[in-house]
Amino acid sequence: MSRIAYVNGAYVPHSEAAVHVEDRGYQFADGVYEVCEVRHGMIVDLTRHLDRLGRSLGELRIDWPMSRKALTHVIRQVLRKNHVRNGLFYLQVTRGVAKRDHVFPASGTSPSLVITAKSTNPAIVAAKNASGIKAITVPENRWDRVDIKTIGLLPNALARQAAKEQGAQEAIFIDPHGTVKEGAATNVWMVDEDGTLLTRPAENGILRGITRTTLLDIASKIGIPIREEAFSVEKMKSAREVFITAATSICFPVVAIDGQPVANGHPGGVSQKIREAFFDIAEKTPI
Ligand code: PDD
Repeated sequence: MSRIAYVNGAYVPHSEAAVHVEDRGYQFADGVYEVCEVRHGMIVDLTRHLDRLGRSLGELRIDWPMSRKALTHVIRQVLRKNHVRNGLFYLQVTRGVAKRDHVFPASGTSPSLVITAKSTNPAIVAAKNASGIKAITVPENRWDRVDIKTIGLLPNALARQAAKEQGAQEAIFIDPHGTVKEGAATNVWMVDEDGTLLTRPAENGILRGITRTTLLDIASKIGIPIREEAFSVEKMKSAREVFITAATSICFPVVAIDGQPVANGHPGGVSQKIREAFFDIAEKTPI
């Protein structure tokens, strides 16, 4: 079955989907994106993803490419055309096409909008949850505005590649004070010796993950003590449990960091409890 993408007003075969060579996303990474999970035919946390998209666009002074209502319609169309029941959609908005110049193009230049969707295999996700994943730590080398979900992800890509080359699946950025920031494409959580769940405050220095926000709701609903507090890399390595969250994976246990096992080297119970409760509590929008 061939995949369909939405590109600037048209639904086109994925293999032919393309943007102009002078798109500012291509030349300057001048754009923002969202990735949103679809499970059992439901879009998970769509309102929060669109709210964050609005914030990212506002921070970069890029116009909405269309109304929120129209955008929701196009997202659902792309999911339907690709027959996605379990998977994700990817949405990208850039400042549009203009002759290469660092300053913004003339007002009235239309933002570019691309939406793709793909199915994922729940059995593969379940297997990863059962085995857990390995992570490495890397020094933070990104700009200060990682709170904006921009498509400028070169340090993240290099960090993930470094992880892969060391037999791991995620790289965790560590700030110059030795405290944990976030993963290359995930937020990071640990369970301390008292059973309290800790994650870095999202005021600055990390992306405010949508999965993170929903997980904060869930933890209090299912009675897991939680604190938004920065923690050191040493504290993380001696945690009872470490896990990472993102819309693509919800909650993956981390069983080794920098080649050392986390606790007994097996996935912990807190991440499992959260994963079980997540879908029921998250907002669900039918396709
Ligand atoms: N990444 N931090 C970073 C740097 C991220 O790129 C992501 C998501 C997250 C988690 O955010 P959320 O819970 O909203 O997915 C945290 C997406 C999935 C990606 O780039 O593919």
